[in-house]
This record gives sequence, structure tokens and C-alpha cells, in this order.
Amino acid sequence: MKIPYGRQHISDEDIKAVVETLKSDYLTQGPKVKEFQEEFARYVGAKYAVAVNNATAGLHLSVLALGLKPGERVITTPITFAATANCIRYVGGEVWFADIDPDSYLLDIESVKKLIESKPKGFFKGIIPVDFSGLPINLEEYRKLASKHNLWLIEDAAHAPGGFFTDSNREKQNCGNGNYADLAVFSFHPVKHIACGEGGMVTTNSKELYENLMLLRTHGITKDNMEENHGGWYYEMKELGFNYRLTDFQAALGISQLSKNPKGVKKRNEIAEKYKNAFNGKIKYQSLPENSYNAHHLFVIEVNNRKGLYDFLHENGILAQIHYIPVNTLPYYKKIGYNGAELSNAENYYSKCISLPMYPTLTNQEQYYIIEKVLTFINE
Ligand SMILES: Cc1ncc(COP(=O)(O)O)c(C=O)c1O
Repeated sequence: MKIPYGRQHISDEDIKAVVETLKSDYLTQGPKVKEFQEEFARYVGAKYAVAVNNATAGLHLSVLALGLKPGERVITTPITFAATANCIRYVGGEVWFADIDPDSYLLDIESVKKLIESKPKGFFKGIIPVDFSGLPINLEEYRKLASKHNLWLIEDAAHAPGGFFTDSNREKQNCGNGNYADLAVFSFHPVKHIACGEGGMVTTNSKELYENLMLLRTHGITKDNMEENHGGWYYEMKELGFNYRLTDFQAALGISQLSKNPKGVKKRNEIAEKYKNAFNGKIKYQSLPENSYNAHHLFVIEVNNRKGLYDFLHENGILAQIHYIPVNTLPYYKKIGYNGAELSNAENYYSKCISLPMYPTLTNQEQYYIIEKVLTFINE
């Protein structure tokens, strides 16, 4: 028996949706992509959504759409997948890391504030906080900070479709709804909530950013607002863009998967409750700040003998994972020399963190087996 830390669930309806699209006239970007964008925007409550071939491409387009230039500086968290920081490097920007909160594991706004205030005005251009594990960043607070210092905000919501927090007006704010962040980016890698094989979505409430993203997604080519028009075939390339398109059959899969996400997120939270009940008072797990609902891509605990537990679980068929090796310690970032704040919370977290299996089709029996093995190891 092997229990992965995360896995997709592809139903018969998902397969039917893909097969139908394969038989249609469109394989690459077509009507299903448009439908997926509309459904996704409605789901998170944003005005616009732009489908892309993965979240890394979405992050790249986001920093481009916001006009990030070589040498400009952006703050992010070290506890994330490398792609969050890499998008800054793609355009020659500098990555500055701030520390995480030791309990929620999210980018700590106090550490970000201290970093910003230690530098002259205009030193930074933006902040990319991450809804790590599916736990929403309090973007209302980040927006206040960003506005004060004239910074843009990209929400890396790769882990978080279905997560939300309640703001100071008691209004529910879905991850990616665009009310506080300029742009949000989601991932449809199979280990995440919605599987497209590869895929991603950028959401925003800004028409200007939306139009910019659409242009950059397809080579910077458009038939709108052309300087000339030689005939029906004619188009213009206005910007240096990319081919970051999603295919229509991936979008068909995405639409079908999206319809099951509310149920999936609920199930993930039921699984999280069982872990919490079993570990309460014995093992530290990620905190849930007041007024937050975690979409639970991951369930993370902290233990002293992390390598011991990792090896023990793997020997017993439980393929626990580590999220993440701090990005500033990866050889590439070490080589270029990371900038930023003191990162002792991230360092301490990395020495202890381990992610237990978390996905809607995890059975009760499998979960009890995991809990039993973790407690056995801890009590030894
Ligand atoms: C926080 C975060 N951001 C971005 C990405 C990149 O996603 P993709 O694999 O869709 O490019 C990931 C993927 O693991 C991620 O975890």
C-alpha cells in the first residue's frame, strides 16, 4: 500500500468532458477555455480570469502585466515553491525574502513591514504573499501596507481555490476575488485541488491588467486597436508576449473538476479536523487564524525528529512530503545571494515541517493508519 501526500481524482464525467472536446473542432484555445475562465471567475468572485498553461506562466505574465523591470525589487516568502520567486527573476528583478509567522506559516506582515521601513521610499515595487497550504493571507492588511508604500500585490493562490477570510467589514473574501490583490494566480497541477494535467488561472478585477494578460498570453498579438489593416488576415504584435495558452481539452477537464471543488474542499477540511483531533496537545500543526477558512491543499505538522518521521512513514508506505525547502537556501538563490530580512522562523519551520496525506479520496481507514503511525513514532 502506498499513500501519496496528494493526488488527483479523475471521474467518468471528467473523462467524458475531455473526450467530447477531443471530438470537437478545437484542441488548442477555444470555447472551453472561455467557459472555464468565466466559470472560474464566478467561482472566486473576480471580474476577470485568464487561463494559462501553468501557474508559473501565470506568475510570469503577472509581473510583466504589472510592469516589473530589471533590477526592481519584490518581497516574497521563503516558504513556497520556487516558482513564486522565479517569476521575479524571469524579468531580471531582485527577490527579497521576509520571514514567516511561526504558527500560521504565512508571510509575516510585521517582518515585511520592518523590511520595507528599513529601506528608502520607492525601494520595493511589490509583494507576492502565498496562501500557503490553502490558508488565505489576510489581504486586507497587506493592501493597507501596499497602498501606504505604493506597492502592487500578487496573491499566489496556487494552493487555495475555495479558501476565504472574513475582512473587518465582516465580508467574506474568497482567495483570488481581486478585492485586495491586483492579481491572483492559481495552479491546476494534479497534486492541487483542480487537475488539468498542467494549467493555471490568473484572476483580477482590473480591466487594464486583464487586457494586458490576454495580450501577453498570445505573443502580444491582437486584432484590436490596430495601426493598419491590410485585410482579414491582418494582425499586429504590440508587445513581446509568449505562448502560454491552455488547450481546450484541458479546460474541459478543468470545468468538470471545478464543479467538484466545493465538495472536495469540504472533505479536505473534514480530514484536517480528524488530524487535529488526533494530534491536539501532542503535535504542533498549522494554526487557523480567526476568520479564516483553509482550502487545505496540505496538512502540515511540526516534529523534532522530522527526518526520522519522514523515513518511518515512507517505510510504512505513507509518502509524506516536505513543503518547502526555504527558497533562499536553494543553490541558485544562494549563488546569487538572497536579500532580505532575518529568516529564523522559516529556518526553524523547515527543520521540523512535514506534510501528511491530504486529498478528498483519502479513506477513513487510510487516515487512521497514518494517524496511528505518526503517534507510534512520536511516542517511541
Ligand atoms: C505556491 C506555488 N506557486 C506556484 C506554483 C507553480 O505551479 P505550476 O506547477 O502550475 O506552474 C506552485 C506549484 O507547486 C506552488 O505550489
